[in-house]
Amino acid sequence: MDLGISGRRAIVCASSKGLGRGCAEALAREGVNVVINGRNEAEVKRTADAIRTNHKVEVTTVAADVTTPEGRSAILKSCPDPDILITNAGGPPPGDFRDLDEVDWANGLVPNLISPIMLIKATVDGMAARGFGRIVNITSRSVKTPLYHLPLSNAARAGLTGMIAGLARQVAKDNVIINNILPGPFTTDRQMVPLRKRAGELGISYEELVSRETEQVPARRFGSPEEFGNMCAYLCSAHIGFVVGQNILMDGGGFASTV
Ligand SMILES: NC(=O)c1ccc[n+]([C@@H]2O[C@H](COP(=O)([O-])OP(=O)(O)OC[C@H]3O[C@@H](n4cnc5c(N)ncnc54)[C@H](OP(=O)(O)O)[C@@H]3O)[C@@H](O)[C@H]2O)c1
Repeated sequence: MDLGISGRRAIVCASSKGLGRGCAEALAREGVNVVINGRNEAEVKRTADAIRTNHKVEVTTVAADVTTPEGRSAILKSCPDPDILITNAGGPPPGDFRDLDEVDWANGLVPNLISPIMLIKATVDGMAARGFGRIVNITSRSVKTPLYHLPLSNAARAGLTGMIAGLARQVAKDNVIINNILPGPFTTDRQMVPLRKRAGELGISYEELVSRETEQVPARRFGSPEEFGNMCAYLCSAHIGFVVGQNILMDGGGFASTV
């Protein structure tokens, strides 16, 4: 299927690796010019080069921290009128909420709540004026089911979801379509590196722990960044205009519910 977005411009935040990279690759495959972002400049360049090699699109690099006003300005300066915005950042650290003070909470909500809202604020009205916009927020399955060791994530993702639920319905008439993808376990560094550490602590092999973990997933595997990117690209497509403010759970069936 032709997604009908060839030639469009996309900002893909936190896209030098993992799920963000999966989104950038899938959009580039559809002919979308992409901005690649991450804090590590060498990693950003490596990813951009790989995308340039595989796809005939313009790839712009911005090595910057998307959670800071300066970082977001640099990203927006590189692509002031994006047609597509994928919001993403590293997830917050785990911990018990009792160990977090007021400052920890104020800071901890920035990456996955304040930062995406600021990027959307900077871009959504331009999209509406031009009559086309697609925004996909990478959130988490924690919107559906709390992850007890991630109180900051639970709060930030749910907060963003609530904000988007209202905004998505206000801008849909202008063909600006906003949806969220809720990842369960995917084979990215964020998911796999801690597993390696935990395997060592448990005194079992990494492969054994991965096998135990995937046993819990109805699909009996983790998701791949490629399939995540494919979903993202479809949510950015010309065909998605009647799907408004939805939360697409990609967790291999892990969250059991009838509807
Ligand atoms: N993977 C999963 O199973 C899973 C499940 C649920 C939710 N999530 C959420 O999905 C998001 C992406 O996770 P992932 O698995 O793709 O992580 P990942 O594999 O660790 O990749 C994270 C990417 O984001 C970049 N990044 C991190 N912090 C950044 C910042 N402040 N500014 C700019 N770029 C930044 C990293 O580059 P630099 O480090 O160089 O900046 C890297 O390119 C996270 O919020 C995570 O919590 C993931």
